[in-house]
Amino acid sequence: MDYGTAKRLLDEIGQGHALKFWEQLTPAQQEALLAQIGNIDFDAMRRIRALLAGGVAAGGSPAAAATGLAPAPVVELGGSTADDAYEVGAQALRQGQVGVILVAGGQGTRLGYDGPKGTYALAALSRASLFEIHARKILALERRFGAPLPFYIMTSQANDADTRRFFAQHGHFGLDPERVQFFAQGMLPGFWPDGRMVLEEPGRLFTAPDGHGGVLAALARTGMLADMRRRGITTLFYFQVDNPLVDVADPVFVGLHLTRGAGMSLKVCAKRDPAEGLGVVVDSAGRNAVVEYTELTDAQKQARRPDGELLFKFGSVAIHLFSLAFLERETSAGLPLHPAHKKIPFCDDQGRTVKPDRPNAYKFEKFIFDALPDAANPLVLAFAREDEFAPVKNAEGSDSPDTSRRAMMEKAARWFAACGVAVPRDAQGALAVNLEIDPAYANSPEELRARLPKAFAIAGDVWLR
Ligand code: UTP
Repeated sequence: MDYGTAKRLLDEIGQGHALKFWEQLTPAQQEALLAQIGNIDFDAMRRIRALLAGGVAAGGSPAAAATGLAPAPVVELGGSTADDAYEVGAQALRQGQVGVILVAGGQGTRLGYDGPKGTYALAALSRASLFEIHARKILALERRFGAPLPFYIMTSQANDADTRRFFAQHGHFGLDPERVQFFAQGMLPGFWPDGRMVLEEPGRLFTAPDGHGGVLAALARTGMLADMRRRGITTLFYFQVDNPLVDVADPVFVGLHLTRGAGMSLKVCAKRDPAEGLGVVVDSAGRNAVVEYTELTDAQKQARRPDGELLFKFGSVAIHLFSLAFLERETSAGLPLHPAHKKIPFCDDQGRTVKPDRPNAYKFEKFIFDALPDAANPLVLAFAREDEFAPVKNAEGSDSPDTSRRAMMEKAARWFAACGVAVPRDAQGALAVNLEIDPAYANSPEELRARLPKAFAIAGDVWLR
């Protein structure tokens, strides 16, 4: 894009200020600014300006605005249904029809770790990173089902190079690099309440990743959807980088999703308490939708069923399945843009960057779960939280590396117990040793039983790999 075109486009939409320091920029800065302007999603910008003009509350989910919200029906599994579903899912995996999407483009501000969150060394003994833990599960599944399980990793402009380098440095953790693909999500500018974009430096707009819902547009734009079709994939397992317990491409989940002919499915677990920050799945005018916890009233969060259980007992943990056809259709759906009032650094009239100490402007994000109302026959499947969900969100306290690592070790302890191996505990019942099982050694209690040496006993720390 050249200066003249940029100026005309920006002036037309009231954003001419983005070029106000043009004359003072070096040629390299001018080029970088034009590139940023060339990447702006003008359609999203129009929608954002309309939202800001109407008051940002309009950015919330339509389902949340409805009174009398009802929870969507949730499937809780019993023995033989699970066995039948396993066979259907396993068949799809054996035929190479399943792929995996990992969203890892977030900024991980709460963790406050310098680098992509996936590179965080989490495992108790090996210090394996989140990326390694996920990748080794994929390797285990490829071996178990004898078929490729292509791995699509969404990054952002801020962490793309670091993420690619990390995988390359670690030999892609044993995966075939031909089946590990990285694609960067889109970025969106920050906006002042009056709808003008925030200039962070004289030659740079403030931008931030466009939310995990940006995955839809990014998959299409970067050719990943076409790649999936070329490889004969029909079903995509989607998850977030911060959860080391995730049961990647769980065959039972895949089987149920396929049997039902669902466009999109999701896993839910019982909320820890009414205030836990998980979205809930509701039935809204005959369609399922996820309502974010911030959009529920206190009364809705606390509401109880006659049996004393929370009305919105289950929370969504961002584990999904999609049919490829649904993903392809949804890329043109235009997910809603959700505003967040943030402290956004800006450039003052003298061209100096100011870091505000209170929220001053808006970021906008798309959420993947907003696709749910468009899906045919969605499946909402409940799972046991301790087996599949222990995210790393905060540096300390709940949902921190410490709680997540502990959950991984307790899961390993349950697997050992299921194999008849005694696990040492202290007087309070806490684990007395550190336990770690490389998913490529065993990715289920059954695999562990098959591999454990006879008369295996735990006397100290155990790292099986
Ligand atoms: P979170 O909403 O927990 O955000 O993302 P975060 O960026 O990891 O952490 P905070 O909120 O800044 O502390 C949930 C998942 O969605 C991905 C994240 O990488 C994580 O796997 N995500 C989030 C994206 O891929 N892109 C985004 O724009 C936002």
